[in-house]
Formats: sequence, C-alpha cells, structure tokens
Amino acid sequence: MSLLFSPLSVRDVTFKNRLWVAPMCQYSAEDGVVNDWHHVHLAQFASGGAGLIVSEAAAVVPEGRISPRDAGIWNDEQRDAWANIITSIHARGSLAGIQLAHAGRKASTWWPFSGRSGSVSVSEGGWDTAAPSDIAYEGFTSPKAMTSAEIATTVDAFRAAARRSVDAGFDVIELHAAHGYLLHEFLSPLSNQRTDEWGGSLENRARLLLELVRVVRDEVGAGAPLFVRFSATDAAPGGLTTEDVAIVARWTSEAGADLSDVSTAGLVAHQAIAIGPGYQVAHAARIREVSGALTAAVGIITSGGQAEQILQSGDADAIFAGREFLRDPHFALRAASELGEDPESIWPPQYIRAYRAASM
Ligand code: FNR
Repeated sequence: MSLLFSPLSVRDVTFKNRLWVAPMCQYSAEDGVVNDWHHVHLAQFASGGAGLIVSEAAAVVPEGRISPRDAGIWNDEQRDAWANIITSIHARGSLAGIQLAHAGRKASTWWPFSGRSGSVSVSEGGWDTAAPSDIAYEGFTSPKAMTSAEIATTVDAFRAAARRSVDAGFDVIELHAAHGYLLHEFLSPLSNQRTDEWGGSLENRARLLLELVRVVRDEVGAGAPLFVRFSATDAAPGGLTTEDVAIVARWTSEAGADLSDVSTAGLVAHQAIAIGPGYQVAHAARIREVSGALTAAVGIITSGGQAEQILQSGDADAIFAGREFLRDPHFALRAASELGEDPESIWPPQYIRAYRAASM
C-alpha cells in the first residue's frame, strides 16, 4: 500500500488517506452563509476520494472577511448551512475541516471575478479594517491598529467560531495564520510594529496565535485535530523566515495544535517567490524537522507519484492540493489508480464501473 493511501490517525480522528483538499475561497456566499454552490463544490471532492476537505477561509466576524462575498461562521444560520454540507461529505466517506479566519488589513477587498480590485469602500458595502499596526498592504486602505480590548474580542470570536464549527459537525479545525491575513500580520515584523506585549520579539508576535491555539483546544476538547496554516516565509527583506516560522510551529504544537499546513507568502505585494512544482515542500520539511510535529505540504502537487514521493522522503505527513482538485474533482481516485491501489476499496461503488471500463 502507498503511504498516500495509508490511514493517518490524529487524536480521535482517522483520515482514510493523506490526500486532502486545500481551503479555497469561492466568493459566493451571501451575508457569510454558504449555499448550493459550496455544497456541490465541496461534496464532489468527497465523491472523488479525498480523505479530508477543508472549507474555504470562514470569517469569525463580519469585518474579518476578505470580501463581502466570503463565507462566515459567526452566527447560527451560517453554522446550520455548513452542517448540511458536512452531512453530504460524511455520507461520501470523507472528513470535513473548517479554516477559521480573519483577514485583518486584507479585509474588505473586491473578490477576484468582481471586475474590480483593491479595497471596497464603505459606501460600496465595505468596512473599516483592523490589524496589529496601522500599516496598509500596498494598494489597500489603511487599517486601524487594534486595541488590547479589540484583540480580546477577536479571541472570543475565534472561540465562538470553534464552538459553532464543532456543533456543525466539522472533524478538523484549521487556524488561518498564512497569506498575510490577521494572524500572519501579528507574526510578521513587517506588519506588526506594536510596542506592547503583542509586538516586538517573536514570542510577543506569536502571542495571539498561541492564545488562539489554547482557546480553541479548550473549546473543542482533546479529541479534535487542530491544524495551523502558516506562510513559512514572507519572501521579503526583514520579513519572517522559515526558521522563525519553524519555531512558532513548535510552540503551537506545544500549545495543543497537531499539524502545520505549510504555505508561503502573501504578506506584502513586493514578495519575491519562485513558483513551480512542489515549490513549498522544502519549507514543510524544515518545519517538520524543527517542530517535531505533523506537517502537510501544499503547492503544485498534481500527481499521485509526486505526492507519494514527498511522503516517502519524509518531507511531510500529508498532502493538500487545491487547483488540481478544481481541474479534476476526482484527483484522489486518479492518484489511487496511478499508485496501483485496489479500486474496489477506494472508488465509490456507484462509480466502479467507470474504473473497470477504463481498465478493460
Ligand atoms: C486558494 N488558497 C487559499 N488558501 C487558504 O489558506 N485559504 C483560502 O481560502 C484560499 N482560497 C483559495 C482560493 C482559490 C480559488 C485558490 C486556487 C487557492 C490557496 C490554496 O489553499 C493553496 O494553498 C494554493 O492554491 C496552492 O496549492 P495548489 O493549488 O497549487 O495545489
């Protein structure tokens, strides 16, 4: 059996394989409530054999949305809409995760296919943004620096979102600390220039993330896997390096997180990063080595063979794929066939005739 299709147990949860769907914003929600688009979109990956499907960034407060069309998890209507989708994912034999998010200074922006770019003004349905410091992302409106009271309110919002996520039936919680959104903004010295206990040293900059790991762990209990998505580097002078993030990953693991999901960049527009097949795997490997905890790799991983090789090399414990699942929602079934797995145990019985026909 391949490593990719070997089960992985984390706390009380066993993933049937290690090929997982990465979080991907659909910019298709109304008032943060997911709908039929999200339902079909996410459930199709379960029919396609993915071991875990992580939802798009779900905002913990309205002002934490990247755009007015982002999904949310700050009220019960949103929770119940997610619950319907989770039922379908479970019925198809996969597990469901939610990515809890706050967009910080990158909130209130036009969504990619809106035909517009930059910040949405308040008069057009946007809102004022908040961040660790009042430093704007290039081209966006300036955020207000959060007060200590606003930070405390944000912690409470993550706690409430974690409770609603568990009540909705999610199996996994992921904290979004990557791509230049609020938790990453606190971590990076380029966006966090606070002089109180939330800024300055790496320890202070990591304080909010570590507090959230503890609070969410307390809220969800000992059995539920808790992941953290990191940007391993800011890829910009003076920004976070993989060594910094590896230390923070170790701290999150000591505080109760189970797995680091390793992406890169997104903090500043002037980042310089070379993109190609498996371009973030080396970062995952280093974070795995330093943190001693489970790690997932993501970024242009598009075949079963490539994914298997990453696991066999000991660079990661699981694989997230995004765009390959958009190109082929049954990517996991395809990867299983490529690796010679027994289709009878992996393909849905409703689809098995297609496999037999293909192999005839
Ligand atoms: C993304 N990505 C992303 N990442 C994240 O942490 N939260 C999110 O909500 C989104 N949204 C999103 C939407 C869409 C349409 C795409 C294509 C990507 C990044 C994604 O999870 C993944 O890390 C990257 O796409 C790189 O992996 P692939 O696509 O090369 O497998």
